[in-house]
Amino acid sequence: MFGKRSQSEPAFGKTPGATARPPAAAAPASVAAQSVPSSAAAAPPPPASFQPSVQAAPQPSRSQPRAVVDTRSEDYYQIKSTIFNALIDTIDLAQLAQLDPESAREEIRDIVNEIISIKAVVMSIAEQEHLLQDICNDVLGYGPLEPLLARDDIADIMVNGANRVFIEVAGKVQLTNIRFRDNAQLMNICQRIVSQVGRRVDESSPICDARLLDGSRVNVIGPPLSLDGPTLTIRKFKKDKLTLDDLVKFGSISPDAARVLQVIGRCRCNVLISGGTGSGKTTLLNCMTAYIDAEERVITCEDAAELQLQQPHVVRLETRPPNLEGQGQITMRDLVKNCLRMRPERIIVGEVRGPEAFDLLQAMNTGHDGSMGTLHANSPREAMGRLESMITMGGYALPMRTIREMIVGSIDIIIQAERLRDGSRRITKITEVIGTEGEVVITQDLVNYEVQGEDETGRLKGRHAGTGIVRPNFWERARYYNLEKELADALDKVNQ
Ligand SMILES: Nc1ncnc2c1ncn2[C@@H]1O[C@H](COP(=O)(O)OP(=O)(O)OP(=O)(O)O)[C@@H](O)[C@H]1O
Ligand SMILES: [Mg+2]
Repeated sequence: MFGKRSQSEPAFGKTPGATARPPAAAAPASVAAQSVPSSAAAAPPPPASFQPSVQAAPQPSRSQPRAVVDTRSEDYYQIKSTIFNALIDTIDLAQLAQLDPESAREEIRDIVNEIISIKAVVMSIAEQEHLLQDICNDVLGYGPLEPLLARDDIADIMVNGANRVFIEVAGKVQLTNIRFRDNAQLMNICQRIVSQVGRRVDESSPICDARLLDGSRVNVIGPPLSLDGPTLTIRKFKKDKLTLDDLVKFGSISPDAARVLQVIGRCRCNVLISGGTGSGKTTLLNCMTAYIDAEERVITCEDAAELQLQQPHVVRLETRPPNLEGQGQITMRDLVKNCLRMRPERIIVGEVRGPEAFDLLQAMNTGHDGSMGTLHANSPREAMGRLESMITMGGYALPMRTIREMIVGSIDIIIQAERLRDGSRRITKITEVIGTEGEVVITQDLVNYEVQGEDETGRLKGRHAGTGIVRPNFWERARYYNLEKELADALDKVNQ
């Protein structure tokens, strides 16, 4: 049962009758395909029958996250382990790798069926299918992660060692019943993921960023740095990216405030999107890029490419970590600096987190209107402070006043994204940067999200309220792009 995986479960490669072998991905490529070995056939039979799925999950206590997804019995894991070990002893993984996925699956199906009949395991066709699916995922894919990766409603997958897998669905973090055979299998899968982008994760380099083939962003931190086994975090790539209309439908922003954002995007304001971890910054940035004209040349710089611009003239750049010798690193700053020599009209920086802030501000200041970026901060004011400290820490010995003037001259709008306590993501502020007074940067809010209470399901209720400003600072800019009527109308409605 979930969370109580027995220590006596046969460890990988240690099943009676099976010789010790490394896990699937690392298995030697020497054994030719053959029928089930007699040693496997002679292995003591496992428990006579089992119920692989739908056992009642333990009732979670109030303080514990709820357990969901696929509840399996202890017996299931034991039987799977036995069959898996016999299978690994039997197949030639190198040959299997040559086959297309369908043929490989067929090959595995034949051998697994044979093992099941030799070992006299009692199970229904449906149970057998389930087991086969699981084993194919282990051998050919990302093992227990596969069913989670196949779901598009999951935002994040968080694996804290072999026995604890959390997911985020609809803004809520939940504990699942998915688990790995052991930490070695988990590490193996992490290695399989990162090796696809030519990287390595092991004890000597235990931290690694990577991307799945579908574009999902991956971070691995392994032992000895993570104490309870390898820790894998995946920000699932949403196949159908959210649009501003979707955000309106979800109540993340009101229709009229969304119109204000459209004008901001169209009239090429320089925008900074601020928010906490997972608050929806990248999603919002992607939404804002929808209002870039098709003729514009856009260059995006990201640590892991997540943005999906629809315009025809887009250059996508990605940073590179140093190699094992500590060489070859290309930082965000390198990319942003290089961008300036690529004749961009707009520069989009996935996340500003270091000295590249200076280069981005300079670009915004020097004819690259409509540039955008995201930044981790809990309020627009804090975002200003973070920009200042990133510039100072970048080693620029500029007086604070100059830095602030630079910020004011570059950033037009800050949009604040937040994940509220009910798990919903909202745009909580649209704020203008309007100038300096003495040494202080002056901002004014155009739209504020006001929480008004919560409904019977615990979901927060609120409204996007205007602050009464009808002529924002970027009015002239909107007029230049013939958008002043649209802006006036949207602000009128927001202010009602
Ligand atoms: N307004 C929204 N409503 C519902 N889901 C959203 C909304 N905005 C973002 N999401 C979902 O929330 C998850 C996190 O979003 P996103 O990647 O944009 O966050 P982020 O702030 O960029 O996170 P990080 O700080 O890790 O980069 C994604 O799965 C995304 O699809
Ligand atoms: Mg992001």
